Amino acid sequence: DGVVSSERNPLRIPELLEDRNPDPNMAEYALEAREGEQEFIPGKLTKTFGYNGDYLGPVLRMRRGEQVSIQVSNALTDDTTIHWHGLEVDGEQDGGPHQKIKPGDTWNPQFTVDQPAATLWFHPHLAGTTANQVYMGLAGLIYIEDEVSDGLNLPKEYGVNDLPVIVQDRNFKADGSFAYEVSMMGVVPGNHLLINGTENPYVEVNQGKVRLRLLNASNADNYTFTLSDNLDFQQIASDGGFLEKSVVRKAIELSPGERAEVVVDLSAVKEDKTYLLVEGYPGLEFRILQLGKDTTEVPSQLVVLPKADATLSTGERSFQLEGMGIQGTINGKVYDPDRMDETIPQGKTEIWTLTTTFGGMMQSGGHPFHVHGTQFRVLSRNGKEPPEEERGYKDTVFVGVGEEVRILIQFKHQGMYMYHCHILEHEDYGMMGQIMVTAP
Ligand code: C2O
Ligand code: CU
Repeated sequence: DGVVSSERNPLRIPELLEDRNPDPNMAEYALEAREGEQEFIPGKLTKTFGYNGDYLGPVLRMRRGEQVSIQVSNALTDDTTIHWHGLEVDGEQDGGPHQKIKPGDTWNPQFTVDQPAATLWFHPHLAGTTANQVYMGLAGLIYIEDEVSDGLNLPKEYGVNDLPVIVQDRNFKADGSFAYEVSMMGVVPGNHLLINGTENPYVEVNQGKVRLRLLNASNADNYTFTLSDNLDFQQIASDGGFLEKSVVRKAIELSPGERAEVVVDLSAVKEDKTYLLVEGYPGLEFRILQLGKDTTEVPSQLVVLPKADATLSTGERSFQLEGMGIQGTINGKVYDPDRMDETIPQGKTEIWTLTTTFGGMMQSGGHPFHVHGTQFRVLSRNGKEPPEEERGYKDTVFVGVGEEVRILIQFKHQGMYMYHCHILEHEDYGMMGQIMVTAP
């Protein structure tokens, strides 16, 4: 069942980055991309990259309405960029491949948070070296909170009953160094699963409810999450925020870039341990303690979302995603930074049809399609109403081989944005396009 008995390590909990501005309506953060090393495997040091630390980065917690300023400095020896995945900001603040930060330089994006409570993330976005920089450890989470999330009595004590779960597979060489290998078929799947940069982790939790913010931050693999003891997940959020109603699920599959927030009720577990299982890997062990009474609740109705109304659309376009091993194209084209592939006016609502006929022998059997600078809604999957967990806000949607996914999309900000396959090797090898959002 994927549970191994080898030594477990305490789950690392990324620090919550301190806001250096005392004004409650403003937030100021500093991130530095740097080299480091970490002991994932006992007795062996692995060379890594991290933000403000050795591996991964801190959590940036922001509030809706807040004015945010981030100083991003590059202490690496190569160029980098930092993209806010899922954040709705102007193209110039988005951190795509055109917003390069040279070694020793600093970039200072500024924006106002204007979207609902959600779990977003950040990572580099260079054309050609995104996959390697993410593999080395550059990624972190952004939490957006708002009055709605304040008002819900969900588990929300960071690191106690509200846990980040950043999942990545990694290959190690015998000396402990990362073995990032790409063949014509794609990246070689990892022989280890890291959660928050911890190999084979356990975490101590209370007997009550625990909220997990799941992020598939792997380069190329889809993961299926399940629970031991025949437990259910109650999924409360997708990529861009809360679902209208929580959805009871036995298994959750996430493709690279996707997030799901779930609540797991451990009160019925008889033993003092249970497991989050991640297909093929030992997953995360929960050690259950009696720490007091749990008073949190998952209401049946979380939020009210605007209806995903296809009749609002005033235009259509389609994107055909094709991968051949590591290569890939969108509408037959390979990424060209000097070519504008699409143009759309700000505020215009459209239906986009996403298809793929060939997964290119990738493990995932399809392509996770991601659009920058906006959250969209899924209108249909293969002509049918999407499953409940896909009816909320999404910024990344998996398109399996032979499938057709229709999304309702609109950009609230102007500027240039990327859309691409979130298999990072596909993105690096050109499965990416550019869209210009013009004045309305
Ligand atoms: Cu998660 Cu274009 O990125
Ligand atoms: Cu792809």
